[in-house]
This record gives sequence, C-alpha cells and structure tokens, in this order.
Amino acid sequence: MSNVQSVILAAGKGTRMKSKKSKILHEVAGRPIIDWVVRCALDAGSTRVVTILGHQSEIIEAHLKKTFGDLVSFAYQREQLGTGHALFCALDELVGYESKTLILSGDVPNLSSQTLSAFLLATEDRSGLITSVLEDAKQYGRIVRSDAGVESIVEYKDATDEQRKIKEINAGFYAFQTAEMDRALRTLLETPPTNAQGEYYLTDVVSMIGPCVGWELNNAQEMEGVNNRVDLAEAEKFAQRRINKYWMLEGVTFLDPETTYVGAEVKLAADVTLSPNVVLMGTTSIDSDTHIASGSIIEDTKIGKSVNILPNCHFEDSKIDDHSNIGPFVHLRPGADIGPECKVGNFVEIKKVRLDRGAKANHHSYLGDGHVGERSNIGAGTIFCNYDGKNKNFIKLGKGVFIGSNSALVAPVTVGDNAYVGAGSTITSDIPEDSLAVARARQKNIEGWAKRKK
Ligand code: UD1
Ligand code: MG
Repeated sequence: MSNVQSVILAAGKGTRMKSKKSKILHEVAGRPIIDWVVRCALDAGSTRVVTILGHQSEIIEAHLKKTFGDLVSFAYQREQLGTGHALFCALDELVGYESKTLILSGDVPNLSSQTLSAFLLATEDRSGLITSVLEDAKQYGRIVRSDAGVESIVEYKDATDEQRKIKEINAGFYAFQTAEMDRALRTLLETPPTNAQGEYYLTDVVSMIGPCVGWELNNAQEMEGVNNRVDLAEAEKFAQRRINKYWMLEGVTFLDPETTYVGAEVKLAADVTLSPNVVLMGTTSIDSDTHIASGSIIEDTKIGKSVNILPNCHFEDSKIDDHSNIGPFVHLRPGADIGPECKVGNFVEIKKVRLDRGAKANHHSYLGDGHVGERSNIGAGTIFCNYDGKNKNFIKLGKGVFIGSNSALVAPVTVGDNAYVGAGSTITSDIPEDSLAVARARQKNIEGWAKRKK
C-alpha cells in the first residue's frame, strides 16, 4: 500500500458546547478529543498529520505541538466557509507529499485505528469514504449509489423527501487520491456555492471524482461527533466501555465495569481487581494481584504488586511499593513514596515523605516533607510540623523508631535509629539513637482533691 497522510478538519467553533474552551480540547477518558483523532491517524500508519485550525488556533496549535511535536503540521481556515473550503485551505500542506490523503473530523474521538486501517485497505488505489446504515439517519449527508460505487452525497438540507429516506449516510471520513482531490477542490472553489447552506461542501468532491468506494462501518457509535455536552457524555461512556473491556480481556477483574472509570493512559497488570466506584486517572499504573476497594480516586500514581487499597482513598502523583496496605481514607499527596510492606491507615495524609520497608502510620496523622526509616512506627495523631510559616523543613526518622501517639515533631528534626518518643510530646530537638525523648509536663496526682471540692 502506498504511503498515506492525514488531514483533520478542526476549524469549526463548537458553539453548542457553550464553553470557553475549544470543543476539541474537551476530554474523553482524560485525553483531549483532538488527541484521539491524531493518534488514530498515526496508528493507522499516516506519515504526517495536518490539522486545519480556525477558532482558538493558537491554543490548539500549542497543545498539539507539545503533545505530538513534529508529527503534526498546521493549515489555517480564517473564515469557515464549509468543509470543502477548509480542505482547500490545506492544499499547500498536502499536495506533493503522499499520494493518498485521509480526511478525519477533529471532533470524533472514538474512531479506532483498526477501523481506519481496514477502511484504508478496502479503498485500495481508489478514492473512498466511510458510510454507515442508521435506523435514524438524522441530518447526516445521504449516500447515493450506483453499481460502480458512491456516485454522490446529498446533504440533508438539500435532499428531496425521497433522498431523505436513504438510510446509508456519510460518516465524514474520506480517503482520497491526493491528485484527484486537488483537482476537484480547485474546481469546487471556482464557483460560489448554490446549496442550501451556501457553503463549499467537501461532499461535492465525491461526485466530481466519480464513483468512490463506500465502506460501511459496523459500529456506528465510532463515527459519532461531539457537538454538545450530551454527545460528550455519550462519547465518554463509549470510550469507558471500550477501555474497560480491553483491560478485562487483559486479565483485570472489574466487579462493576459500569461504575469504574479508567483513563486512557492508565496501565493495569493481569490479576488486578477493581471494586465498584473506583476512578483511575492520568498516568496511574497498577501491578498484578493488587486490589482497589470502592470509592478511591487515584491520579498519576504507581502502585506495585499485591497491594491492598481499602475504601475511599485519594492518591495524587505518588508511589506505593509491593505488599503494602493503604486505607481506608488515606490521602497521598504529590511525592508520597510508600515502600514495600508498609501500612498506612485511617485518615492519614502524607506529602513528600518516603516510608521505608515495613514502616507504619495507622491512624489520624499528617506527615509532610520527611523520611521514615525501616520498621518505624508512627503513633496515632502524630503530626510533622513541617512548615514554619515561611519554609518547609525536613524530618528524618531512623530505623525502628517509635513515635508515641499525639506527638508533634517540629521540623527540622532528626530522630536516631531505635529511638522512642513518649506519647503527647512536642519534639523540637534531635534525638540520639536508642534514647527515649519525653517532652511534656510530668503528671501530678493530687489525692483527695475531688472529695474536697464537693
Ligand atoms: C458533514 C458532512 C455530512 C456528514 C457529516 C458527518 C459536509 C458538507 N457534510 O456535515 O455529509 O454526514 O459531516 O458528521 O461536509 N469544519 C471546518 N471548517 C468549516 C466547516 C466545518 O473546519 O468551514 C469542520 C468542523 O469543525 C468539523 C467538521 O469540519 O470538525 C465537520 O463540519 P460540520 O459543520 O459538523 O459538518 P456537518 O454539517 O456535520
Ligand atoms: Mg457535524
């Protein structure tokens, strides 16, 4: 097969989203809609992707450059005079490169690269387009066929009652021979449009080229564009079902796939188990035999093997090593680094702290900016006072340290190996190894006091 390039129509305004943000930068499964389209084009074998921009072009261009670098180039349609005009604006970027050009819509996130590749293969060395047969053909362009293929596309607004009965519609994806497309578009732009919408229709290129291959899509949901928030939610649901199904076939157990959200960049190993109402986002990865109980939201976090996450945790940009037990109600903030065989329990918040192997913080604590050595035990209610109002200071606990309940460690402070802190202490100086530090008022019992009071 000859080389192929792709062009994405993305100059439209997306008014119906009622959003400050460009429609194509809204996300499906945590990935911007336009990124799905670019990836689809690249995964289907495009050597280059040209995006046609209009509204918010600077923002979209900056985003795409950051994400895809040199793989994407740009053309500009300053005034939206129709899909044919849009493609015409990109001709300089397209003619003279590859002999075949794929045309995709920037607002259709769920077309798979497998579908696109199959379509491309079916067109061989002809021009063609993707069609779909719909029970409710809505306002899509209608496909007019002869034995030779697709003769023309009639836009709904221009169609006769008879033509509106046609159930085969134009999905909006084309594979044109670049030279044929070039000739047809130049002719199209020679005369002002006379159709119902007064636009230069890309669909007219089909009849100008002559009978084209019409390749029917099996799953019509793949071609659905996002125009408003209802469409966005439907696209999200479709993407979720597909992502979850993919992971189930890779050996992940979903107790309730309908309520489990897995972002597009998340990586899961076989024998991970996900309970209902789990949300996995960003670059999160989870290794084998780990179980995530209900109610957790996990973002950009790397979780090892055989980890047990109890209900209702929130992790951000953190790391949890093998065989650890976390939760319920644990908040790991950026930089929390939990070593192997650790236990972090009820209502503990950790930020930028490393816990070495076997360390424990089981109840009601805040640990920020520090290092906890192997097997150390942080008692209930311990607070790392890491902030002096101006700077964040560091707390270092050695191996086998025991911090009694309700202690405040005022940073910077270092506690030597195997040292103890008495419960209720406020620690402001370093503690040597093997010592006990007690920093609280000594208890005084006043005998008979209660009787005398009465
Ligand atoms: C188009 C097709 C229709 C097809 C449908 C599938 C035409 C004339 N009609 O209709 O046959 O059934 O898609 O979804 O092509 N755009 C630009 N510049 C413009 C106009 C549009 O870049 O001047 C972009 C839009 O941002 C969008 C895409 O082209 O990504 C499609 O445009 P849209 O106006 O939605 O076309 P439809 O009327 O839906
Ligand atoms: Mg549309």
